[in-house]
Amino acid sequence: MTGKKPGPAAGAGLQVPRMMGRHSPAQAGKKPSAQRGGAGAAHTSVRLDRLLAREGLGSRSEVKKAVRAGKAVVNGIPERDPGRQVFPSDEVFFDGKKVGQETFVYYMLHKPAGVLTATRDRHAQTVLDLLRETGPAPVLRQGLFPVGRLDRDTEGLLLITDDGQLAHALLSPKKHVDKTYYALVTGRVTEEEIRRFSEGIRVPGEGGDEAFTAMPAKLQTDTAAAFADLLPADPGQFVPGKITEYTQTLVTIQEGRFHQVRRMFSATGKKVLYLKRLSMGPLRLDPGLAPGEYRPLTNKETELLIALAGSRSGGVLNEKESL
Ligand code: URA
Repeated sequence: MTGKKPGPAAGAGLQVPRMMGRHSPAQAGKKPSAQRGGAGAAHTSVRLDRLLAREGLGSRSEVKKAVRAGKAVVNGIPERDPGRQVFPSDEVFFDGKKVGQETFVYYMLHKPAGVLTATRDRHAQTVLDLLRETGPAPVLRQGLFPVGRLDRDTEGLLLITDDGQLAHALLSPKKHVDKTYYALVTGRVTEEEIRRFSEGIRVPGEGGDEAFTAMPAKLQTDTAAAFADLLPADPGQFVPGKITEYTQTLVTIQEGRFHQVRRMFSATGKKVLYLKRLSMGPLRLDPGLAPGEYRPLTNKETELLIALAGSRSGGVLNEKESL
């Protein structure tokens, strides 16, 4: 849609065990590998002594000693090697008790403009501050982080979780996860620009990120249909007085380079006046969330995300809602 001025007008949901009952498809047929840190840590193998220490069952040296003394059982068989790699599918007992399953949690935040996409910052309010300090049930859980980065001025859907592997899958361009943005831009968007976006537009370097050719992206000027309930009622409010013409667009990309959408438009000589993320894979911003508000994902949303990441299935804890 092109316009001329003045314009036309908490608690945690589904928790997913860190140690699941089955191997992920990605692991099927693969040789056991040592655990990687960070993203992916939950789905690869981990040393037995590390797992036990992580579960708070003693220091590394204490649990090593205990394992050597025969206190660990893996899949029904006593295991005396503290270096044994265990997988999410393995059943581990220690000192007669089943080793507990930690869980992942997932929140949808409607990020407001002006808040930093970071866990902590000395000077500015961060998206994690919003979870810790606002809402009916502040979220004090450790280890949460935002999945991907929205610029300080960008609003919209932000997923916050402690599931590193899921985050990695959602952000990896190889997974081709669609991220759709509403972008209000200066000037009139042309068919030529739509074609350039769809073919992969060349984006100049900016802020330390070098020039790159973007993956094919979908640029639409018909914004009304799919996301009508998430669009600003009065786009003109974001348009400075000196701008005489603007276009409302939807942009769908599958990667997340620094200032990606702004830079893609900049490559066509346009400036983004307002940017809001509307969806990410199967997740769509809840229109009931005002900027700054958040809620746990529903079971259905969590399951869809996990299916998309191709990482896990089954073993759901605390399932209060039906799918
Ligand atoms: N692209 C941008 O330019 N900024 C964002 O915040 C997200 C995508």
